[in-house]
Amino acid sequence: MSKNFKRTLVTSALPYANGPVHIGHLAGVYVPADIYVRYLRMKGEEVIHIGGSDEHGVPITIRARKEGVTPQDIVDKYHGIIKKSFEEFGISFDIYSRTSSDIHKKTAADFFLKLYENGQFEEKVSEQYYDDEAKMFLADRYIMGECPHCGNPNAYGDQCEQCGTSLSPLELKNPRSTISGSTPVLRETKHWYLPLDKHEEWLRQWILEDHKEWKTNVYGQCKSWLDMGLQPRAVSRDLDWGVPIPLEGAEHKVLYVWFDAPIGYISNTKELFPDSWETWWKSEDTRLLHFIGKDNIVFHCIVFPAMLKAEGTFILPENVPANEFLNLEGDKISTSRNWAVWLHEYLEDFPGQQDVLRYVLTANAPEAKDNDFTWKDFQARNNNELVAIFGNFINRALVLTQKYFKSQVPPCNELTDYDKETLKEFADVRVSIEKNLDTFRFRDALKDAMNLARIGNKYLADTEPWKVAKTDMKRTETILNIALQISANLTIAFEPFLPFSAKRIREFLNITELEWSQLGRADLLKVGHQLGTPDLLFAKIEDETIEKQIQKLLDTKASNEQNERATVPVKPNIQFEDFEKLDIRVGKVLECTKVPKADKLLQFLIDDGIAKRTIISGIAQWYKPEDLIGKQVCFIANLAPRKLRGIESQGMILSAENSDGSLSIIEPSTEVESGSQVK
Ligand code: 2FM
Ligand code: ZN
Repeated sequence: MSKNFKRTLVTSALPYANGPVHIGHLAGVYVPADIYVRYLRMKGEEVIHIGGSDEHGVPITIRARKEGVTPQDIVDKYHGIIKKSFEEFGISFDIYSRTSSDIHKKTAADFFLKLYENGQFEEKVSEQYYDDEAKMFLADRYIMGECPHCGNPNAYGDQCEQCGTSLSPLELKNPRSTISGSTPVLRETKHWYLPLDKHEEWLRQWILEDHKEWKTNVYGQCKSWLDMGLQPRAVSRDLDWGVPIPLEGAEHKVLYVWFDAPIGYISNTKELFPDSWETWWKSEDTRLLHFIGKDNIVFHCIVFPAMLKAEGTFILPENVPANEFLNLEGDKISTSRNWAVWLHEYLEDFPGQQDVLRYVLTANAPEAKDNDFTWKDFQARNNNELVAIFGNFINRALVLTQKYFKSQVPPCNELTDYDKETLKEFADVRVSIEKNLDTFRFRDALKDAMNLARIGNKYLADTEPWKVAKTDMKRTETILNIALQISANLTIAFEPFLPFSAKRIREFLNITELEWSQLGRADLLKVGHQLGTPDLLFAKIEDETIEKQIQKLLDTKASNEQNERATVPVKPNIQFEDFEKLDIRVGKVLECTKVPKADKLLQFLIDDGIAKRTIISGIAQWYKPEDLIGKQVCFIANLAPRKLRGIESQGMILSAENSDGSLSIIEPSTEVESGSQVK
């Protein structure tokens, strides 16, 4: 540790308690944080790991309203589920609490007051939408209307999900309240703003100059925020769910969730150490680290530090090792679309196999860029790495010792050059694994740990003690002594990554937990030490098991697609005159060919009753051109011509879209004359 830090305070992002946690959470935040704190603990350093649920914010109120329960019901349910999942996966928090606790509400309110009293806020009155029927100000998500960019009639006040544009509620055309359905009115409301612009200068120096060692993804994101120029940010909201603003005249106003959530780290430390929490938050010799996902970078690197600085007595984070995102089978993980591997479901399908997931998520962690989790990769890593190398080695070492030496550690006799080389190579890995762990490169650190298992596995394969035992018991003793010492070392190297497996190996070896400083030593097990009973460390995962998981995802995808199509909202009403503007006609296909170098396009020559016209249509995936010749199709005859791939298309052929996205052209049910109008 540089800079003479005496202790390390690790925080892991507080997940929203409005749904269970999934593999993306584990890979991005909780497994890396857990690896790190386990490593520090093994080194005998003073460290605590603070976690908890983030129980405020608008999405929780929306979910509660939908389900007809209170927000407290929602957070009670999910806080329990999330906490249990973390426990089951061995995420070793010193405390996992919640932001609806009294201690948090008081801590957050006091924090706000201190800033308020120190004149650290700006007050501003602005106009916001108010629902006169429901008698409440509307959060952006509670307002819907027409997107000014793409015309989607169901865009939200903060974003249009059809075209992806970020919006402000004031931009929506024909806004409506999703609470009462009424048209909201603009009303004045007062809010408190943290003037980030005033903090910009020291933030620039502190991040861009003093913390060049931060991960490039983190540093880069901070730089681009700072280069854009910081704006004041409102720290209050008109809402009834959250920490009430502790000021007179601020009824129905709460702290913005992103103001109170990071204070949750402080509240939870207070709950853990009511008397000594300040040592962890206010001493210059405490190193504060925030483990988060990339969507939280600005809050942890800019907003929260500005809050801490404005308060005046707190330390700032020393590092924020944020990860990028984990995708699932090529698609973004999404709670609302159920596109995720939920931890509680994983444990039902793979009981006792927490470490397999911890292994795969670390080996494939999105440390520098987004990464993809696939079930095939999960299976391959389990079968080819955990089972074939790590498990195989441990099992051989123990079973052979059981067979030849009644499970007692044999002596180490004369070493060959190969033995010496193996032991040296083994000891060398420690330098690399430490360097990687110290710099938050957990993928590489895990590779190093796995390398140790590989060295052990290769050693047994090369020395073949099962053959040597037929002629040379002394040599067999040495080989198995070395293999067992390596096994004991693996309990150290893997403890941060795969704590359940490390514990099982300790049981096989009949030893208690070792210290990090013992890694690389060849005398961890005394000669004559009685070992425990060996068992398989990892089990092979069959194709069938994986296919079941893949099928589960395919089912989710199909049902999402169906839902999406089923719920395509009907467009806003039009007048008959609007309909009359469309000239829809029937024509006969005279020629139909593929458009070169365009997979989706067909070029038609249509007899429209008056002349021949060319139309390009994007239906090549569903029709062979020759099957369409002679058919009657419906087309829009007065659509302004457009050029597609250099060909002028004089109209548009009509087709219907199925829920799977496939297209079917519209034909009259009996033959009609070419040029007939569709009415
Ligand atoms: O993005 C999230 O899930 C937030 N609930 C993280 C909050 S982290 C901290 F500030 F509490
Ligand atoms: Zn839009």
